[in-house]
Amino acid sequence: MSNSTNDADGKRTSTFADATALVHASSPSARAAGLLNPPVHRASTIVYDRVEDYVDRHRHLYDGVIYGLYGTETTHALADAIADLEHGFKTVLTSSGTAAISLSLSAFLKAGDHLLVIDTVYRSTRRFCDDVLARYGIDVSYFPPDIGGNIAELIRTNTRMVFLETPGSMTFELADIRAITDVTRARDIVTALDNTWATPLLFRPIEHGVDISIASATKYLSGHSDVMLGAMTAVTEEIFKTLKDTAARWGSSASPDDCYLVHRGLRTLDVRLERHQRTAQELAAWFEEQPEVRRVLYPALATDPGHAIWKRDFAGASGLFGVLLDPMGEDEKSAFFNNLRLFRLGSSWGGFESLMVPAWPAPARNCTALEDGALIRVHAGLEDKTDLLRDLEDAFSRLRAVRSDQALPEFRTAQV
Ligand SMILES: Cc1ncc(COP(=O)(O)O)c(C=O)c1O
Repeated sequence: MSNSTNDADGKRTSTFADATALVHASSPSARAAGLLNPPVHRASTIVYDRVEDYVDRHRHLYDGVIYGLYGTETTHALADAIADLEHGFKTVLTSSGTAAISLSLSAFLKAGDHLLVIDTVYRSTRRFCDDVLARYGIDVSYFPPDIGGNIAELIRTNTRMVFLETPGSMTFELADIRAITDVTRARDIVTALDNTWATPLLFRPIEHGVDISIASATKYLSGHSDVMLGAMTAVTEEIFKTLKDTAARWGSSASPDDCYLVHRGLRTLDVRLERHQRTAQELAAWFEEQPEVRRVLYPALATDPGHAIWKRDFAGASGLFGVLLDPMGEDEKSAFFNNLRLFRLGSSWGGFESLMVPAWPAPARNCTALEDGALIRVHAGLEDKTDLLRDLEDAFSRLRAVRSDQALPEFRTAQV
């Protein structure tokens, strides 16, 4: 059940602060039974006692339980909790963040339309645009993240959608979302924004003029590295219905079991993000001091080119950032990564654990050049920061040993 009401524009306004709303988000049957978490309601077929109710069931397509594909009470409880955080109209849940991205694009584009995509977008989004949308006759072009209001110059008569992600995957450039949406709103162009990095706790796209806020709930919302789920939150009822209908046409739905787990993950989202951020800031500051490091890519750092926009628009930073080092040879890469004890090599971030991966080959770009060097992506997990720093110090000692042709040093971090 939601603690919010929809205001005159249809957007939800919550009575409570986010941390409180996250703890108390529930469902009608949980409240009735005195349960704290919405139970898992699994269903495909829904049966009716009266033929009139059966014939009339589609009246409840958007908020009721009429077929498993459209969700059960477990799905609706999580969707409401996310819509509350986003200050949106309503949320549609999908089987993954990738599904939320591809469905939001398919919902509004048709053959002959033009789509503008930020060049720093997540790799699978770029693939969907280039491999699938292009095949369906949609003209896709990319723009640099610092475009601001100059996006007006790229808009054509057939531009139907703008797809954003801020900060960018891997390179963490921030875009001035308000400057972009001032232009798109005036021209009736639909904007969607992948907000996975910040979550609605740290940035609310809808409050910055975006029409659809997208989250890979696989990451922070779930927080435990074991669930795939996505969310699309719409600013208006009309957009919500279009998203819901599109998800149904493609046969996409979210498993109630996964919704239950993400709902449980939401309870601690606020405290987890606080810890991710604190540790990330300390690790980022440490990386900045290392002579091999050219630049740390993290908007929360005063040295980051996106810092002013971040300070203006965001309530905080999450735990994912980039580190650009001098180029690394194969031996150096192996010495650095292969003996990490706490940082694990894995790409899906936002869970409790720390991760570190090489970002090469470099991410694809159409109109923004990438600096050369060895780009590493770091996710600061929930471990103790002293242990993490020791793991990093050891990794840099190994890197230095290989660079100066010396034997690898002894490990100081115990194997976990
Ligand atoms: C920024 C971003 N958006 C979307 C996704 C896709 O989400 P999912 O893994 O839930 O499909 C990812 C996955 O890594 C991501 O990093």
